[in-house]
Amino acid sequence: MEFTITRTSTPKAKPDETKLGFGKYYTDHMFIMEYDEGQGWHDGRVVPYGDISLDPAAVTLHYGQMTFEGLKAYKNPQGRINLFRPDMNAKRMINSNKRLCIPEIEEELFVSAVKTLVEVDKDWVPSVQGTSLYIRPFIISPEVSMAVHPASSYIFVIILTPVAAYYEGNDKELHGSRIWVEEEFIRAAVGGTGFAKCGGNYSCAMIASANAKKYGCEEVLWLDAKEHKYVEEVGTSNAFFLIDDTVVTSSLTGSILPGVTRDSTIQLLKKWGYKVEERLVELTEVLEAAENGRLKEAWATGTACVISPIGVLNFRGKEHPINNEKVGELSQKLYDTLYGMQTGTREPEMEGWIVTI
Ligand code: COI
Repeated sequence: MEFTITRTSTPKAKPDETKLGFGKYYTDHMFIMEYDEGQGWHDGRVVPYGDISLDPAAVTLHYGQMTFEGLKAYKNPQGRINLFRPDMNAKRMINSNKRLCIPEIEEELFVSAVKTLVEVDKDWVPSVQGTSLYIRPFIISPEVSMAVHPASSYIFVIILTPVAAYYEGNDKELHGSRIWVEEEFIRAAVGGTGFAKCGGNYSCAMIASANAKKYGCEEVLWLDAKEHKYVEEVGTSNAFFLIDDTVVTSSLTGSILPGVTRDSTIQLLKKWGYKVEERLVELTEVLEAAENGRLKEAWATGTACVISPIGVLNFRGKEHPINNEKVGELSQKLYDTLYGMQTGTREPEMEGWIVTI
């Protein structure tokens, strides 16, 4: 599909790259493409960033039929733009769409839409340490209906926001986050939408993150829905634990988001010779290992948070420090390697991960 490009006649002033925050500023343009039954995806185009008009009865507003993605663009030392494994986001969106009954966007179309928009707004990619251009593709339905059934028209939109670290301060120096082990609320159950990237997984999680903050924690550690026995994810990211010399993380049970950074972390660790186990991980195993010193490190992985070390697990008000709340060597090495590859300041350790525009 050929995309048309309409450039803004009123470009915005760029924000101070040392004060970006996360999702505070948006670039000059966005990508938009429609889907209609019988016609497929059509009219892909880059247009000036602006409001989207929706009828108050639009399906998405009532029943949450929507999916989204998150990936990043980085400025490399040659002044060109690097994307990190955009094919993985395209594939995940295909799977999310299947679960939400939304028509598939082919991988090639998704990646070329991302590349086209980023190329138009390339001057917005920040270069200060720890920053990046966060790319948010999403699909909603403008269809007017009160009936609960899959819509027959959709819009695919991509917006761009220059960002600092998701966890404040981590762009300058990593720190160990305080994490609340959540027992009351669950994020997802097997058979539900946990593996899909859809808004409902995030709105249902807000109450728990808000509670965690009341207990002085930055995020929550989710447990499985059925038994509240196994650890699943940390906030909006995947969770990893280094117990003795083995790295363990929850297997993709159906309620876990298949993170791109999760997959990249597992591949890197295996390449470096670590034993990695993807399996059910009991909370008691993790807490006991923290108590007897066998839990050497723990960290969260995600596109937004990259590698975010966990310093303390708070379970029922009792604090379980990890690595004396210091950032572990392996967490730091993973962060340096991934961010280094993404920004092109390190040789890519894996073939095909970096796509340069
Ligand atoms: C990401 O890591 O890309 C996410 O989707 C997290 C986001 C909700 C900020």
